[in-house]
Amino acid sequence: MIYRVIGITFLLIQLCIGAPIEMPKKRFPTAIIVGVKKAGTRALLEFLRLNPHVKAPGPEVHFFDKNFHKGLEWYREQMPLTTSDDVTIEKSPAYFHSKNAPERIKALNPNTKIIIVVRDPITRAISDYTQASSKRKRLGLMPSFEDMAVGDCAVWLKANCSSKVRGVNAGWGAIRIGVYHKHMKRWLEHFPFENIHLVDGEQLIKSPAHEVSATERFLGLKPTVKPSNFGVDPVKKFPCVRRSDGELHCLGKTKGRPHPDVRPEVLEMLKDFYVPENQKFFQMINRRFFWDS
Ligand code: A3P
Repeated sequence: MIYRVIGITFLLIQLCIGAPIEMPKKRFPTAIIVGVKKAGTRALLEFLRLNPHVKAPGPEVHFFDKNFHKGLEWYREQMPLTTSDDVTIEKSPAYFHSKNAPERIKALNPNTKIIIVVRDPITRAISDYTQASSKRKRLGLMPSFEDMAVGDCAVWLKANCSSKVRGVNAGWGAIRIGVYHKHMKRWLEHFPFENIHLVDGEQLIKSPAHEVSATERFLGLKPTVKPSNFGVDPVKKFPCVRRSDGELHCLGKTKGRPHPDVRPEVLEMLKDFYVPENQKFFQMINRRFFWDS
C-alpha cells in the first residue's frame, strides 16, 4: 500500500514538473560491512549515514549466514527504498567469520564492495566477552575472561578443547574471530583486493571523520562527513554525532560498555599469541595497524 502511495506521488510530481523522476525501489546492497564483530561496525554505519546518499536497513539482516534459506527476494525486501544516486549498505558482522558468506555474496554480485572494520584483537575479544556475559547475566555468571582465555577450557568449552596455542584457548570464539588472517584469506579468495576496504576501528574512535571520509571515497561518494559532525560522549568518551541543533546523538547502551580489568600476565599471553597472527594478517593486506598486540 505504502509503495503504491509513493508511486502515485512520484507520478504526480513528474506530471507537474514535466521532467522524468526516478521512482525509488528496493535494491540489493552495493556494499556490505561484513565485520568484524565488536570492532566498531555499528559506529561506522551510523556515521556513514550522515551522507544523505547512504541508505541501510536498521537491524542486521544476517542473510548470507543465518537467513539464506529465506531466499533472495526476502533479502531484497529487507533493503530500504533507494534511487540510483544512493548506495545501499548492509551490515552483518558475523559474515566475516562465516565459511559461506564470501562465496554467497560473490554469487549474488562479484562487484560487491566489502568493508571490514578491524581493531586490536585483544580489545575485540574482551568486548565480545563483555557482550556475551551481559547476555548471560540472567542464566548465571560466566567464568571470568581470564579463565575463558587461558584457563582450563575442559570446564566450559565443549569443542576444540585440545586447541591451546601458546597457552591460549584458541578454539574459543572470542579468540578465534581475532585471528584475522584465517578469515581474510577466504575473502581474498573471492574478491579482488581493490574491492575490499579496511577500516581501522581504533582510528574510528580517535578520528571518526577521517575513517568515514575514506569509506565514502571507497563507496564512490563525494565525502561529506567532517570533524564538525562529531562530539565526544562526556561519560563513555566515544564519538557521537553532533546534530544541527548542537545536541549529541550517541550509540545506545550496548555500545561502549565498560570492560573488565584483565590481569597483566593474561594480557601478555594474549599478546604473545596474537603478535605472530597479526603479522600474517599485515603481510596478507600489505598494511600495518599499530595495535598493542
Ligand atoms: P564495547 O561496547 O565493548 O566498548 P560493534 O558495533 O561492531 O559491535 O562494535 C562495538 C564496539 O564499537 C564497542 O565495544 C566500542 O568499543 C566500539 N566503538 C567504536 N566507536 C564507538 C562509538 N562511537 N560509540 C560506542 N562504541 C564505539
